[in-house]
Amino acid sequence: MIHSFFSLVTRHWISLLGSVIALVALVLVVMLFGMELAGYHGGPYLGILTYMLLPMGILFGLALIPIGVLRKRKIDRAAANHHQASPAGLPVIDLNDARTRGVLLASVAIGMVSLVVVAGATYKGVEVMESVPFCGTVCHTVMEPEHTAFQRSSHSKLRCADCHIGAGADWFVKSKISGSWQMVSVALHLYPTPIPSPVHNLRPARDTCEQCHWPTRHVGDKLQVRTKFADDEANSVTKTVLLMKVGGQQGMASSGIHWHVDRGVKIRFQSDPSRQNVFDVEMTAADGKVRTFKTREAATGPVEWRQMDCVDCHNRPSHTFKMPSLEIDNALEDGRIDKTLPFIKREGMRVLNGQYASHEEARVGIAREVAGFYKTSYADLSTSKAAAITKAGNSLGDIYAWNVFPKMKVTWGTYKSNLGHDDDAPGCFRCHDKKHVAPDGDKISGSCKLCHAVLADDEKDPEILKTLKP
Ligand code: HEC
Ligand code: HEC
Ligand code: HEC
Ligand code: HEC
Ligand code: HEC
Repeated sequence: MIHSFFSLVTRHWISLLGSVIALVALVLVVMLFGMELAGYHGGPYLGILTYMLLPMGILFGLALIPIGVLRKRKIDRAAANHHQASPAGLPVIDLNDARTRGVLLASVAIGMVSLVVVAGATYKGVEVMESVPFCGTVCHTVMEPEHTAFQRSSHSKLRCADCHIGAGADWFVKSKISGSWQMVSVALHLYPTPIPSPVHNLRPARDTCEQCHWPTRHVGDKLQVRTKFADDEANSVTKTVLLMKVGGQQGMASSGIHWHVDRGVKIRFQSDPSRQNVFDVEMTAADGKVRTFKTREAATGPVEWRQMDCVDCHNRPSHTFKMPSLEIDNALEDGRIDKTLPFIKREGMRVLNGQYASHEEARVGIAREVAGFYKTSYADLSTSKAAAITKAGNSLGDIYAWNVFPKMKVTWGTYKSNLGHDDDAPGCFRCHDKKHVAPDGDKISGSCKLCHAVLADDEKDPEILKTLKP
């Protein structure tokens, strides 16, 4: 059986060549993969070789085999039709002939030398390519938005791979394969801008987030104080105080917001690919009872089902892009922008929403606009508060550069957070909109008390804070 397979495959030179190519490529893949498992990290180019080019070589080689076999069969058949013996497909090597022995020896020698040369050249080539500051330029532009936001997040000490790959050999290989394609698409400028979100092949949170965060941990209630500044001359301050019912598992039962990720609860939902419009929601409770909440309007375009996990709410755990208003409020609160500058909130909003071609242009333009405003409207401050005005301009430039990336077409609101609800990012209200109805008429609740207690809503001097911080 094995014998006849070999004779079939090697009877025509095309099949023979194919088998050799496939075999050599296979040996190289196994070798490189083994090296990588043993801890040698050859970098992205070696990945392209191991996970793209060589496998393509294997496939190419394998494809040649049937071609050769068919060719040979055709030749045999033609010979049979003419009642002739089939011509030998391959030359006969007669080792009794001194000349043949010489040629054979020379071929082996040349073969060995070229193998060494090819191996050396490949090694050198990979080394040289990797020393080219490729990722510092092309890759950097592509990943700049995420990398910038990542550095400001509470996950800045993690590696990208902690969430994007996680542990385990199967995901390692999967990520290597998709990573290699990504490298090629980046090199050939085939990538879309902005990089699309959600990430459809993101690993389930159970294998990433839950390696560090226990889903069963009880967080309980969490106090949130938001300080907001108005767009009047005084940049008037108000505060919003929320008591978030994060909850979690306590004893046998879960409550509050983290009830969704209780081990016993399973929520699946149907949405369009953007995951911003949710249609059917199917809930399997801890007691095994299944309920489906449906919307009145059915989906028109393509839909997909997904099991809810951490990233359906925390969809920007590491790449949190904020809106101008929140950024300016934070900067005013912690003094990066002087809150005594008249109209600075309003002016900040205006300059941040301007159009700039690059970060450099934005920084220059924003600083000039801010200085210009005070020069024309508050000439006295323009000199007495010159330092504060310069600082405000620089801080606003930072805010722009943290959130807007013209080259990648990432601007305010391109990447929305699902961890809340507002006009342009429905978040929780994708389901909690009182429009998802079960057959018995029950709705997914939209009660303002379900998720938080609003202890103060845009108040000047909330009573509750006096009680908490006497
Ligand atoms: C704490 C976990 C975490 C870390 C660390 C992390 N990411 Fe992500 N990233 C995510 C999640 C979750 C999404 C998917 C968001 C979605 O699907 O809605 C994502 C999405 C992305 C996207 C798609 C575009 C977008 O903004 O949604 C890119 C590109 C990306 N990450 C790059 C990176 C890079 C580069 C790093 C390292 C500098 C990194 N990520 C680190 C969790 C993480
Ligand atoms: C390798 C460990 C690790 C992984 C994986 C990880 N985290 Fe974290 N996470 C941390 C650490 C460390 C902190 C910071 C805690 C602190 O600052 O007190 C943190 C903080 C947080 C916070 C609170 C701070 C904030 O920014 O709001 C949230 C929410 C969070 N992580 C969600 C996630 C989600 C969702 C994922 C999966 C996409 C994830 N984490 C994956 C380690 C991890
Ligand atoms: C239904 C939406 C939802 C899901 C699902 C969800 N979270 Fe949260 N989580 C929230 C909200 C809302 C908060 C409170 C955010 C805030 O205001 O700071 C929060 C808070 C947190 C915090 C901060 C707690 C603290 O001590 O400050 C961590 C960490 C966290 N979540 C991790 C996770 C992890 C890990 C998962 C998956 C196992 C998960 N969350 C699933 C909505 C969710
Ligand atoms: C994919 C749909 C979906 C999304 C998105 C979603 N939820 Fe839910 N949520 C549900 C369903 C279904 C229930 C159960 C409804 C019921 O019991 O009537 C629920 C129940 C709750 C409960 C009550 C839990 C309990 O103790 O029984 C809270 C609190 C809650 N959600 C908070 C949130 C918050 C906060 C967000 C956004 C950060 C959010 N949810 C996003 C589907 C969703
Ligand atoms: C399904 C859960 C859920 C429901 C229902 C809900 N909220 Fe919220 N709400 C949230 C979450 C989550 C946040 C964001 C907290 C954060 O940013 O960390 C939030 C934030 C807020 C804020 C602060 C936003 C800001 O200005 O920064 C207000 C005010 C608010 N909600 C009011 C309401 C009112 C009024 C209702 C009833 C119509 C309501 N919420 C219903 C989950 C919910």
